[in-house]
Formats: sequence, structure tokens, C-alpha cells
Amino acid sequence: MSGLISTRDLSPEQINTLLDRAQEFADGATSQRLHGKVVTTAFFEPSTRTRLSFELAAAKLGAEVLTFDPRTSSTTKGESFRDTVLTLTAMGADVLVIRHELADAARWAATWSGLPVVNAGTGRADHPTQALADALTLRQRFDGLDGLRVVIVGDIANSRVARSHLAALPALGVEVSLVGPPELMPAANPWQVDMGHDLEEVLGDVDVVYLLRIQKERGASGFGDAAGYSARYGMTRERLSMMKPNAVVMHPGPINRGVEIDDFVADCDRALILTQVGNGVPMRMAVLEAAGPGR
Ligand code: NCD
Repeated sequence: MSGLISTRDLSPEQINTLLDRAQEFADGATSQRLHGKVVTTAFFEPSTRTRLSFELAAAKLGAEVLTFDPRTSSTTKGESFRDTVLTLTAMGADVLVIRHELADAARWAATWSGLPVVNAGTGRADHPTQALADALTLRQRFDGLDGLRVVIVGDIANSRVARSHLAALPALGVEVSLVGPPELMPAANPWQVDMGHDLEEVLGDVDVVYLLRIQKERGASGFGDAAGYSARYGMTRERLSMMKPNAVVMHPGPINRGVEIDDFVADCDRALILTQVGNGVPMRMAVLEAAGPGR
């Protein structure tokens, strides 16, 4: 495995191997697999969890970590994405971790650089390590994924997280369905999953309600009615009580309290949001170890 661009490129066996290794790291295993290697993160969109967990994962594997920040770099002087990738490569990076608004940016970076590239979120297309970290969280909570029912709720149209889940989870036996307002649903359904507009109708049937943020910066800009959205799709204490007793709430973050999730739900012990964040580190260790240099 050289780099990781999309969960679509992974077989179920590869996903399970990565999840097993991530669980070992979560249980305290250590590795210096990237000792002496340079892991460069280049995030052309904002990030808190993903960038820091990649950098922490790389540091735990013994790598030198370089952070490229477009907002304080020569990107502001007109340097192109391609020239930036070539510059980071010339400096001796061994792995690039890329986040970019364009769907194919990570693939292009791999072609231009000849390096393993790990995708940290591209456009609406892919966010493979988020999907893997979430699969790890599900596996820990439910003791296996086969037969689990997950409904992804909200701005599916603009969500790379949803697309990565739709590529990864069904291959692991998880039944995924989608719920959201018509204007935030995908135009096509190549995954052939159930799509609907009524959250309360499905709440009692699922093991996981996976909430999404309305991603205005990615095209949901015409969608201004946050109060109307919350009334129909916001996860509230009342809606939580409509779920099965052991069902959980997940969210990739950043959460918008009062829009897709209220304070009670965000802070209750059935919300796995911070567990998801924590699992980002061992999961990214497993990915960097498997996809990094020398593989
Ligand atoms: C997501 C992203 O950037 O795709 N966040 C994340 O990486 N945890 C989801 C989002 O921005 O809403």
C-alpha cells in the first residue's frame, strides 16, 4: 500500500488489517517505523482534529513533522498547488498528507511528487482516515460491524465523510442509509442505499445516528435556514429518547451546537464524538505505517 487516497481503493481485508493495527496502537503498542522520515502536512482548508492527529500520529511513529500552512506561505504570493507540492518534495518529504478543496488534489499530488500521499480530505469526494477512525470507534462500541445500521444525517451532498463511509462501511457489513432535506441530498445514488427526508421515522431502527455539519463553504451556501433545519434534523434530547437504548450518536466534528446537535446530546455519554477524535490518532498511525515510505 503506497499512500491512501480513497476508501474505494481499499479491500475489506485491507480495512480490517488497518483497523486491527489501529486497535493495537489504541491499546498501547508503539512503533518507530517512520524514524528518520519526514511527514509533511499541507492543509489548504482549515482543520483542527485531522491535521493535529496526523501530526501526532507521525511524531509517535518517530517521524520529523513539517507543517505547511498556505495562509502564511508563498501560496499568498501566487504559487500554485503543483509548484507547492514540487517544493515540498524537493525539500525531502517522504510522505505528504494533503487536504484540499479539489476532489482530485491528493491523486494529483501523488502523481507530481512520486511520493506516498495520504488524503486528509478532498472536496466532497474523500476523507478516508475519518471513515476508518469512525469504523474503529464503531467496532469498539459494538463488538463487530456486521449487520449494524447507520443513518447519516444532513448535508450529504457536500460531505466527503459521507462518501468515504459509503465506500467503506457497506464492505464491512454495515447497512448505511441517508436522511436529510431534499436540497442537501446527493443528486444520484450510486451506492443504492435508502434515502429519505424524515429523521424521526428512522430513529428507532438504527444503531448509529451519524450527524453532519451544513458545509456552507462547500456549496450549501444557499441553505440559510438553520432554525428550520434544527427543527427537522437537529439531534435533541427528545429525539435521543426515540432511539434504541444502546444506539449512539456520532459526528466527525466540528459540531455546530444548536444546529445539527443540541448541548444535551453533544455532552451525553451516548455521543461518541470525542472517542472518534481520540481514535483518529491510532488510526492515522496505522495508515501512516502501512502507507508510508518503504512500503
Ligand atoms: C470534516 C471535514 O473536514 O471533512 N471534518 C473532519 O475532518 N473531522 C467534516 C466537516 O468539515 O464538517
